[in-house]
Amino acid sequence: MRIFGAVMLILSWLTAPIFYFLGRKKANIFLPPISNPILKLSITQLARKIRRRELTSEQVVKAYVDRCKEVNPLLNAVVEDRFEAALKEAKEVDQLIASRSKTQDELEKETPLLGVPITVKESIGIKGMSLSVGSKLRENIKAQIDGDSVRNLKSAGAIPIAVTNTPELCLCWETMNLITGCTNNPYNLSRTPGGSSGGEAALISSGASIAGVGSDLAGSIRIPSMFTGIFGHKPTPGYVSLNGHYPEAIGEDFEKFLTIGPMARYADDLKCMFKVMCGKAAAALRLDEEVDLKKLKVYYMENAGFSFVDVKVHSSVRDAIRKGVKHLGSVAGCSVKKVCINELEGTAESCASTFFNMKNIPDLMSMANPDNPKEKKNVYVELVKSIFGLSNISNAGILFTLLHNSNCFIPRSKKDYYLKENDDNLKVFQNLLQNDGVFIYPTHPIPAYYHGQFRVKTAGVMYTMVFNTLGMPSTHIPMGLNSEGLPVGFQVAAAPNNDRLCLAVAKELETAFKGWVPPPSK
Ligand SMILES: *[C@@H]1O[C@H](CO)[C@@H](O)[C@H](O)[C@H]1NC(C)=O
Ligand SMILES: *[C@@H]1O[C@H](CO)[C@@H](O)[C@H](O)[C@H]1NC(C)=O
Repeated sequence: MRIFGAVMLILSWLTAPIFYFLGRKKANIFLPPISNPILKLSITQLARKIRRRELTSEQVVKAYVDRCKEVNPLLNAVVEDRFEAALKEAKEVDQLIASRSKTQDELEKETPLLGVPITVKESIGIKGMSLSVGSKLRENIKAQIDGDSVRNLKSAGAIPIAVTNTPELCLCWETMNLITGCTNNPYNLSRTPGGSSGGEAALISSGASIAGVGSDLAGSIRIPSMFTGIFGHKPTPGYVSLNGHYPEAIGEDFEKFLTIGPMARYADDLKCMFKVMCGKAAAALRLDEEVDLKKLKVYYMENAGFSFVDVKVHSSVRDAIRKGVKHLGSVAGCSVKKVCINELEGTAESCASTFFNMKNIPDLMSMANPDNPKEKKNVYVELVKSIFGLSNISNAGILFTLLHNSNCFIPRSKKDYYLKENDDNLKVFQNLLQNDGVFIYPTHPIPAYYHGQFRVKTAGVMYTMVFNTLGMPSTHIPMGLNSEGLPVGFQVAAAPNNDRLCLAVAKELETAFKGWVPPPSK
């Protein structure tokens, strides 16, 4: 696997000029500025104003629909919209509020998101909306039910306005597929917004959605959040129901590694969305309990340790970590300590092994022949066909299948060894963090790269993947833009069930460093 990593690294140097050249056409296109002030209010502010009739839900939904229509031709993030239906639902909300059949307190308690528009990653499922999840092999398939997390949000009064783009079956860290195509990064259209929740990230960061629902199997919430400078939370598994998600999470490993979580522009909204998405299960996480930062222990690492095959951590990411940690220590009063967890250097292998040995990973090669699933397509034939645009399976899907088939070049016989290593690593973290510690670590070693570069930069996902295989909660925190105008930030993880510690650190750093900043415009 390390040899594979080294080959990738060399390829990434050699191919850099090609990607730069391919990206240059889109490099100097800017989004229109966010001019409607409604688009800069948080969910809490919007919901309060709607309840008090200072704003109508119709005005708010219309503002977001208009912004979607304005930026989507540049971003290509929407798979299917429900703008008309959403505006109709908004009018019904306004009528309900005007009828005064409930007091404002009742409305807040029963429906904290009443009248607020949201977006949803296509794979989560909204009844009647597209559930192709970027796969030609699933074209025109519609969701039969609302995913549980969406249902909880709807019951709280939220109004979904669109389902958003993903790579084929969410099996990539870039958002491009053969149905909707390639989604662009609002901060530089020549770059990817990351994936797999890339459509969400592009819309939220460009002010075309206030918050949304993403899913994270190996960084799919946190990497797009990092690439577009928004907040994203990968929860402790087991609190947000996975029901309705495609690919379905079947089996114990899958249910542990895959989590559905919130993505948002403002830290408060992240918590607000998360609480609603959990439903009744939220109580056990004590999300409303005040976190005393003076009693919080902050541990951090600036990179995974030395390995010549890793994607090197960019200086702007390292500086963001130093800035954040310094503030937490000297202003917020946390105790701060740089640590060296040697185990993390080996997580590339233990994560990849644990991950690829997960049962029920969707197999695109047998899906291509649904009538005769035993007759699998040949992955190498599909690879050649895809180079000439003749395959129904995306290039990313094929590369993923190759990695899966080869078990990422790790001998399958070592599965138990790495499973044990994974368990041992969780114990290391639990001992270190207990219930009053967090761990700060790069979300991804580099800011958003050019479209297509995932092919040579995949090794960087070990930074996010480790918290999926360990089942730990982790929040991406945006820390502004670097000198190239690209968002940077880092993740803060905690021991299982301590999601509230991650969210408290996100809030503190947003207050100190402003969190999300709008994309450049001309
Ligand atoms: C996008 O990136 C390219 C190449 O790095 C750069 O030349 C261009 O100025 C950037 N565009 C914006 C809008 O920042
Ligand atoms: C792709 O799918 C379409 C419709 O499902 C089918 O007609 C076509 O033959 C397929 N193409 C290939 C190359 O398999």
